[in-house]
Amino acid sequence: MPVVTVHPSGEVIYLDPDETVLSGLYKAGYAYAIGCRRGGCAVCKVDCLSGQFKYDYPIADTVLTVEERSDGTCLTCRAVPKGDITIEMRDENLRLINPFLRQLNEKARIRAKSVLSGTESKEQ
Ligand code: FES
Repeated sequence: MPVVTVHPSGEVIYLDPDETVLSGLYKAGYAYAIGCRRGGCAVCKVDCLSGQFKYDYPIADTVLTVEERSDGTCLTCRAVPKGDITIEMRDENLRLINPFLRQLNEKARIRAKSVLSGTESKEQ
């Protein structure tokens, strides 16, 4: 159950397994500039500072240079984290547009953590 940490704001977002970074951030109440949502425009490009991700669906050959394909450049609309990752926004910060969704995401993260540690509570 991957966790995405976002620089420079320091937000920590919990993702469902096999969820894209973009989907997880939007489900957690955040927004930022995006375009096609299909790996074709590069508007959602961020830098992956740590951790690994994969693309379960194709991305256009023209959106990432050969160098970007190996330097951690990440298309958030298609990138699925393989574990916890840290990303850095490029030209803007995340905007919290729905604090309620953020609260739900935090509860999900706490619940997942308690399940993993064996301290699950029926109240959560
Ligand atoms: S939104 Fe177009 S490549 Fe991600």
